[in-house]
Amino acid sequence: MSRASRSPAWSGLDRGAPAGGWVTVLQAGTVQTCRGLGGVEQGEFPDAGIDFDRANAARMYDFFLGGAHNFAVDRAHAAHVLANHPNFVYVCRANRAYLGRVVRWCVDRGIDQFLDLGSGVPTVGNVHEIAHRFNPAARVAYVDFEPVAVAHARALLAGLDTVTVTPADLRVPRTVLEAPTVTGLLDFTRPVAVLATFVLHFVSGDVAAILGRYRAALAPGSVIAISHGSDDHDDPQLVAEIRAVQDAYRGSANEGTLRTRSELLEFFTGMDLTGPGLVDITHWPQPQPDQPATGALAAVAVVP
Ligand SMILES: C[S@@+](CC[C@H](N)C(=O)[O-])C[C@H]1O[C@@H](n2cnc3c(N)ncnc32)[C@H](O)[C@@H]1O
Repeated sequence: MSRASRSPAWSGLDRGAPAGGWVTVLQAGTVQTCRGLGGVEQGEFPDAGIDFDRANAARMYDFFLGGAHNFAVDRAHAAHVLANHPNFVYVCRANRAYLGRVVRWCVDRGIDQFLDLGSGVPTVGNVHEIAHRFNPAARVAYVDFEPVAVAHARALLAGLDTVTVTPADLRVPRTVLEAPTVTGLLDFTRPVAVLATFVLHFVSGDVAAILGRYRAALAPGSVIAISHGSDDHDDPQLVAEIRAVQDAYRGSANEGTLRTRSELLEFFTGMDLTGPGLVDITHWPQPQPDQPATGALAAVAVVP
């Protein structure tokens, strides 16, 4: 598989916030969102549980996707990532596209409940937007442990009774599965799609065991979908780029763990892998020969 071609439009170093975009404003110890502001940064605002000293994955990913919910420390770290892997914006966009295909695939199967672990800062193609396009009654429970991601999700979703936001650490499944915002929204006696895209590589340790806890709560016909960074590839340049991204995330709040194909397949022991199995995110559910490989792997499995 060929690698992504270089995209000079995305040096990432000189890109400002989109005009009129949503920005983070910290006031009186809370996080609020405002449209039409620009350049609001840390400094004179009181702490709201946000780590300003270290870049984090949620806000860097928002930057890579062209959002405005990020701070100078995130942009500086993101620039470092892009210096190591200039095509990383392509990788992030390919992941969002994969997430959208998974949601559509689930809705087509009749699944109308989603638990989105590590949902991130709301951006283009949010899970509830895609699901509601095809089933307005679909329910989506977002979960993230990053305050900016949670605050923006809450602001965006205010007034929607089919969507909730839960601030929780996915590594403690009980806190997610017992949260009133999850139990009050999702019916675990019926199929639920658990989405864990571009998040599990930020979790070191026994992810298979963590996913096993979620799986134990799921009814037959439920789905677990992942995308995950991996350096288990034949193309040495692709491997070098992926490892360079991992290196560049060092020092951020979310250091990365790359996993092999066999380690990722262990996540799904006892489940039925769908379609092509474990493949590059660009190739799920069908191969796309004209799409360069990203090095990130995807799999969707069904609870028997
Ligand atoms: C790269 S973003 C992915 C967003 C979205 N899932 C997607 O694929 O587009 C990773 C998100 O996972 C969140 N995250 C990382 N570790 C987490 C954890 N242990 N519990 C909850 N959220 C976590 C980060 O805060 C960030 O918002």
